[in-house]
Amino acid sequence: MRPIKTLERVLSKAGIGSRTEARKWIGEGRVRVNGRVVRDGDQWIDLKRDRVAFDGKPLGKTERVYLLFYKPKGYLTTYRDPQGRPTIYDLLPNQDRYLFPVGRLDLDTSGLLILTNDTAFAERLTNPDYKVPKTYLVKASKPITDAQLQQLRDGVELRDGATRPANVRRIAANKFEITITEGRNRQVRRMVEVFGAKVLKLVRVAIGRIRIGDLKIGKVRELTQQELKGLRTED
Ligand code: URA
Repeated sequence: MRPIKTLERVLSKAGIGSRTEARKWIGEGRVRVNGRVVRDGDQWIDLKRDRVAFDGKPLGKTERVYLLFYKPKGYLTTYRDPQGRPTIYDLLPNQDRYLFPVGRLDLDTSGLLILTNDTAFAERLTNPDYKVPKTYLVKASKPITDAQLQQLRDGVELRDGATRPANVRRIAANKFEITITEGRNRQVRRMVEVFGAKVLKLVRVAIGRIRIGDLKIGKVRELTQQELKGLRTED
């Protein structure tokens, strides 16, 4: 973490709330810097020197949380939806700690999502340079030929460029598993649409070596130390 940040950012990085919430709390006078109430979220804070307190409690090192969540379809991965549609936050236990998803899943996609309050970890995992593989189970609206599966392996041309090589395993005439190392917007759906087919069902069944296993849909569990280590060293 860089030592100089705005007060608003210090609060959100500490994992206690979003930037918007932090700004609101600062405005309400709930935040003190070196003992004095500060109502300006843009004030610069030197983390090595300044003491920041929220509701009278010094901001210590917030415990890092890493959860694995099995997202059902029909839920957005955003915090709040202006249209009032359901979000994953409707399903999460312990609402008083602020966690955010690592990457996104479409409204109609189900499957694994990692939730954390560790921004550095999240940035690393979503950075395409680190190539953390994600595996999706795809059901297409029509049979996909062997030649088309091979095209998916080699890379298909999308409007934002060719896709990277992928692993693909056939399951049925119109079903396959694909492992990709990028996370472009609606990538798997767009890859299948190249063949004039639609994706009828999309489930993220693995992130790196972590698979759904016994996790029930709509539920969370903590990532194990071993899983975390695996994600940090995945290539
Ligand atoms: N690819 C998609 O098309 N959608 C997702 O949600 C994830 C990957």
